[in-house]
Amino acid sequence: MASDLGQSDEAYERFLQAAMVDLEDVRDNAADGIHGASAGGIWQTVTFGFGGLKLTQEGPTATPQLPSHWQRLKFKIYWRRTWHEFDLKPEVENKDFSMSSLSSLSPLSSEGTFIKGIIFDLDGVLTDTAEYHYRGWQRLADEEEIPFDREINEALRGVSRRESLLRIIGERKYTEEQLQEMMDRKNRYYVDSIGEILPKDLLPGAIALLDELRSAGIKIAIGSASKNAKTVIEHLGIADKIDAIADGYSVQQSKPAPDLFLYAAKQLGLEPSQCVVIEDAASGVEAAKAAGMRSVGLGPSERVGAADVVLPSLEGVSWADLQAHLLGNGK
Ligand code: BG6
Ligand code: MG
Repeated sequence: MASDLGQSDEAYERFLQAAMVDLEDVRDNAADGIHGASAGGIWQTVTFGFGGLKLTQEGPTATPQLPSHWQRLKFKIYWRRTWHEFDLKPEVENKDFSMSSLSSLSPLSSEGTFIKGIIFDLDGVLTDTAEYHYRGWQRLADEEEIPFDREINEALRGVSRRESLLRIIGERKYTEEQLQEMMDRKNRYYVDSIGEILPKDLLPGAIALLDELRSAGIKIAIGSASKNAKTVIEHLGIADKIDAIADGYSVQQSKPAPDLFLYAAKQLGLEPSQCVVIEDAASGVEAAKAAGMRSVGLGPSERVGAADVVLPSLEGVSWADLQAHLLGNGK
């Protein structure tokens, strides 16, 4: 029905929700047998909905309204003692059909899904180093007798080392040398704590999603403000799953400026509109928006509510889920 009403993005989201019942076993009961009636319904959403199949007196006809990234839909139907085969391609007017929720961004690519690359933030997205950054700053602030706590730290997620320090000291005056010494000290505390990081420290869902994206041919970049990003990536053992790294050395202007993500997209050879950013920081979501990229925010909506899609974490999140969320612009 959504397809008939021209609400193609909603149609596709509903279709995925239904298909995932058994493909991803979202109800945790596919082992008892597939949901047969639902599978039949899905076949109908594909043929009648996306294919625009109609059974008329003259025989079956089809007016396709394919999801924008589908290139072909082939099916056959037995009707009044005859097999009818359909091999449908997107019609020209379907190629950039209105995706209201995404209309501020460029039209969807006609070759495959519009998402060609995912840029992952590192700290707080793939691994919980955000906690170590917090502890490093807390220790430094305690030594300097500067008030600091977790709440203040929340605003420092994704923020560069220097900018974090400047925010912590506020109006207090320090020489450049003192600032440098404090940054070095905090970094020593941080580097000490990441020395022990192992692949098991990847956050739940991270490795499964990275692997799935790779097999789907989606390019993967890291977009982290950290100058320690490469070390962390090595420790986590994910270097061979990543196509490009944009880190604290890559650009001058850090998040919330778009530069880091634009640099990552360039490394991947993609346009910003083909990339999606996954972030745990308000500054990172802001940077993604400034770069003209869609974003998935991980964590509380007070922090990442500005993202196109907000999820608690990557746990149990598949590539299909991500696409469905982004197409539906679901929060
Ligand atoms: C970001 C972290 O990834 O990197 C911030 O979220 C951190 O907390 C920033 O300040 C810079 O990291 P580093 O390792 O260069 O001090
Ligand atoms: Mg982060």
